Amino acid sequence: MAFTFFFRDTHTIEHMVKQLVPEVAGRSRIRIWDAGCAYGPEPYTVAIILSENMGNFAFKNVYIDATDIDESGQFGTIIKNGQYTDEELGRIPPEILSKYFTRTEDRPGYYTLTDNIRNRVQYQKHDLLSLNPVGTGYSLILCKNVLLHFKYEERIEVIKMFHSALTPGGFFATEQTQKMPEECAHLFTQVVPDAQLFRKVE
Ligand SMILES: C[S@@+](CC[C@H](N)C(=O)[O-])C[C@H]1O[C@@H](n2cnc3c(N)ncnc32)[C@H](O)[C@@H]1O
Repeated sequence: MAFTFFFRDTHTIEHMVKQLVPEVAGRSRIRIWDAGCAYGPEPYTVAIILSENMGNFAFKNVYIDATDIDESGQFGTIIKNGQYTDEELGRIPPEILSKYFTRTEDRPGYYTLTDNIRNRVQYQKHDLLSLNPVGTGYSLILCKNVLLHFKYEERIEVIKMFHSALTPGGFFATEQTQKMPEECAHLFTQVVPDAQLFRKVE
């Protein structure tokens, strides 16, 4: 199973949310793409942190497309069910855990995410190296701990695809250790100095 966990790199996610929320205020559809989402902890973490920072009404306009190549063939079911073990939820602050998860009645040792969070995330299997985006008009694309698996030339093409799938002024986030390739530098400006968070330049 892919390595991931809830509340991973909240530093970058908090920056993303802080930048995104005022930008999308008043929009009836806020599209987010989590590319290489593994079995759900990352897109659900983003949904929870957005929920904490947006009113209930605005949060209902958030649509997170969570995609992964998923060699196990299990991610779709896990994400749809939204059920995770005590161990997997260990890093979630207790007040967030009690607000967004309930004990799963028929599955001892598991917690289930509340419907208001689960309903915001839709999973589909997708290979980033196909270079066909799953959609367009995204306000935010995050792709963390995935690009490092690609060759340098592939990384450039994938980042160009993200650029084309973003709405004007949309945000792109990756992990702290991933640098923007020189060949793509003219497509984005870095938003904050201490996170790999970028904004689309036309
Ligand atoms: C280390 S996990 C990162 C999960 C999550 N983004 C995080 O940072 O916690 C890397 C994920 O990238 C996915 N992946 C690898 N190659 C891919 C590709 N060509 N297209 C889409 N996903 C891919 C893997 O299946 C895996 O789930």
